[in-house]
Amino acid sequence: MKEYTGQALREMYLNFFKERGHKIIPSASLIPENDPTVLFTTAGMHPLVPYLLGEKHPAGKRLTDVQKCVRTGDIDDVGDERHCTFFEMLGNWSLGDYFKEEMIPWSYEFLTGEKYLGIPADKIAVTVFGGDETLPRDDESASLWEKAGIKKENIYFMPRENNWWGPAGLTGPCGTDTEMFVIRKEKCSPTCNPDCNCGAFLEIWNDVFMRFNKTADGNYEELSQKNVDTGMGLERALCVLNGKSSVYETDIFAGAIKVISALTGKNYGENEETTKAFRVLLDHTRTATFMLGDEKGIVPSNTDQGYILRRIIRRAVRFGRKIDLPEGSLAKISEAFIKEYESVYPELKINAEKIAEELNKEETKFNKTLQQGLKEFEKCLNGIERKNAFMSQKDPAYIPEKAINGKQAFHLYDTYGFPVEITAEMAKERGFDVDLEGYKLAFEEHQNKSKAGSEQKFACGLADHKEATTKLHTATHLLHSALKKVCSPDVNQKGSNITEERLRFDFNLPQPMTAEQIQAVEDMVNSVIAQDLPVEMKEITLEEAKAEGFTGLFESKYGERVKTYTIGDFSKEICGGPHVERTGVLGKFKIVKEQSSGSGVRRIKAILE
Ligand code: ALA
Repeated sequence: MKEYTGQALREMYLNFFKERGHKIIPSASLIPENDPTVLFTTAGMHPLVPYLLGEKHPAGKRLTDVQKCVRTGDIDDVGDERHCTFFEMLGNWSLGDYFKEEMIPWSYEFLTGEKYLGIPADKIAVTVFGGDETLPRDDESASLWEKAGIKKENIYFMPRENNWWGPAGLTGPCGTDTEMFVIRKEKCSPTCNPDCNCGAFLEIWNDVFMRFNKTADGNYEELSQKNVDTGMGLERALCVLNGKSSVYETDIFAGAIKVISALTGKNYGENEETTKAFRVLLDHTRTATFMLGDEKGIVPSNTDQGYILRRIIRRAVRFGRKIDLPEGSLAKISEAFIKEYESVYPELKINAEKIAEELNKEETKFNKTLQQGLKEFEKCLNGIERKNAFMSQKDPAYIPEKAINGKQAFHLYDTYGFPVEITAEMAKERGFDVDLEGYKLAFEEHQNKSKAGSEQKFACGLADHKEATTKLHTATHLLHSALKKVCSPDVNQKGSNITEERLRFDFNLPQPMTAEQIQAVEDMVNSVIAQDLPVEMKEITLEEAKAEGFTGLFESKYGERVKTYTIGDFSKEICGGPHVERTGVLGKFKIVKEQSSGSGVRRIKAILE
């Protein structure tokens, strides 16, 4: 096979589709405009959602582009051969124009054609939607593949888990797909198929046939137009086409690898630990460069996109230390990426100064806390080891402790700015754990204490008493109760903030909510609104409130009288108010975002329509 550079593959792809009537459009921002349910643009189709739903695109019905994307679900896995938080996606779209009959032969031509990728046809396998109770098997795609030249035994019918794509956020366009794989080696067993992890099949491209829209109530409605959405991850495709075992061995990373080597005197591939540190630095610095350099540039902070950016920069700094990367290096590595990408993404060059400045700032800041935190971390481990040695001497049956306790982990976080994920990762490297449950408790205790002080001043997060905020205030109580019923009775408020536009609610939950839970909570709140339940206020003593099962903070003074609000038999909370009189006036409740807000804490943003 030929050897490709990233730039050669971008050009070949875009030109192929340009020759077939497609307009080349520029990459959109990494921050999604049309989807408040996710933090970053995660696929090429993401910025095109309104057009896939039927809106007219100014460039027409056939589009192609290379889109910058970020997926952050697996940050802690970055360091292995294939995980990346940033990637580019090559794609082409039919907005109600061509469909399977055109797209499948084109995919075949691009993959196998001599002028294009030139992969031998018998080295390509495809998967096709195998049918279920809602939709029939996609025989049409299978026969189009066979007609094009794919061997019948290399066409696999697979279940919905494999051959259904989307939506990108909680709602939006989606449909069955057909995925293409390069056959790299012999199957590991007669039943081996493209879903197997043995490395025989490597995915290269995905054609989605988007005929449905997933609505907020969880239903799939048929779209008025039949769309095609395809996506080829550039790094992954380069890796497969060039026969490399890791995405980090493609030309895209070559410049930055040289910079890291020059700064540290170490080489990528020299040993496992060094290679892992190189990969974390490469991936995280590249992602940070694109986030900071984005046209809607973000900066490190403690919330939303800024928090993710902070976390990846700090993780990069920590891994940099392992290979003696001097302070100030992230900006230098970033320069190599700016050079690599500036012709495709000119915004990086335009924002070069800001990128360097912010990287340096965050790196310096974290280096300070990291140094002090590391000392404290060592002290924790030494303490545990000393105790273990002492106790074992006294009692041969003593089982040594192997975990940093919650209070220690919280101290590292609170005093040294040490994210608990980092403490946990470091502990693991030394054969220790972190008591995450204990950490959560320590965190919550702290939150409750600091909240108790502010509670009286800012009645449950209410900033003013306008009508809109009053409604959102009542909606917050409904949300709190619904979360307890849907997710866990242990859910408790960790913070609340209300503006005229939206409510924001933080609560403890160890894992992200599933799409189904989000839906169920939304439905439950809307059903209580529809019941038009009365909202009743009663002033009683704190002890009475506690005895009657009202939720709220019980740290106020003994005997103090508090306001309690009861909504039908759905919600009972202590709160300063004010609230609406009946739930019916609230309108439609909608969750627009569910995200992390620190370890073990989730954050919901919701609106009333
Ligand atoms: N939207 C499809 C994907 O991301 C093409 O795989």
